[in-house]
Amino acid sequence: MGKEPALISAIGAVAANGMIGLDGWLPWDIPEELAYFEATVAGAALVIGRLTYESMDVVPVDSFIVSRRDDLIVRPGCRRVASVEEGLRGAVATGKPVFVIGGASVYAAAWRYCHRFYLTRIERDFAGDSRFPESIRLDDWVLERETVRQLHENKTDSDVTCRFLVFRQQNPLILISADCNSPMG
Ligand SMILES: NC(=O)c1ccc[n+]([C@@H]2O[C@H](COP(=O)([O-])OP(=O)(O)OC[C@H]3O[C@@H](n4cnc5c(N)ncnc54)[C@H](OP(=O)(O)O)[C@@H]3O)[C@@H](O)[C@H]2O)c1
Repeated sequence: MGKEPALISAIGAVAANGMIGLDGWLPWDIPEELAYFEATVAGAALVIGRLTYESMDVVPVDSFIVSRRDDLIVRPGCRRVASVEEGLRGAVATGKPVFVIGGASVYAAAWRYCHRFYLTRIERDFAGDSRFPESIRLDDWVLERETVRQLHENKTDSDVTCRFLVFRQQNPLILISADCNSPMG
């Protein structure tokens, strides 16, 4: 009682046609967008889907890897969790800010608990095989910040408009203690 609830945020980048991933990595190559992501999540505890985790060269300590595989061995400093809620509880317990970094089904399960969503809209269509979930209606959230930049995209060797948005959700679902709101029990 009386303790500030931990700040839970999500962060992701989405193309104009909704794509977020291609062949296990990003559909685009925009170094400055990636640098924004890295700077924003620095020092946070992360909640990560198993495929996204496997695509990452470096995974910081206090990362919670969501997977239904109970035999999954994860890197030192990481923990396998069976549900997004278990991951969020573990991340909150570190005392660090918490960031959900995707992919699609992890965003879909986590957004209700998020206070903020850091979304980069990349204003061009990209081919992809992983799509931002349509169930997340950020239009209902409060837009707190918007910065527009032209950034270089290396695959097409051209500049692309990137809209860095920060949304706030008025009344996120409260993450209650262990096993009470986990659909997996
Ligand atoms: N643009 C961006 O900001 C962004 C962000 C993140 C990822 N990506 C891209 O998106 C692609 C990967 O994303 P993805 O959506 O395909 O996969 P993902 O969410 O990273 O991983 C999917 C896996 O996570 C586990 N999982 C997901 N939801 C779960 C839940 N509710 N409960 C238990 N386990 C759950 C399952 O693992 P098991 O199969 O082990 O059970 C599932 O197969 C990559 O291309 C990546 O680069 C892009």
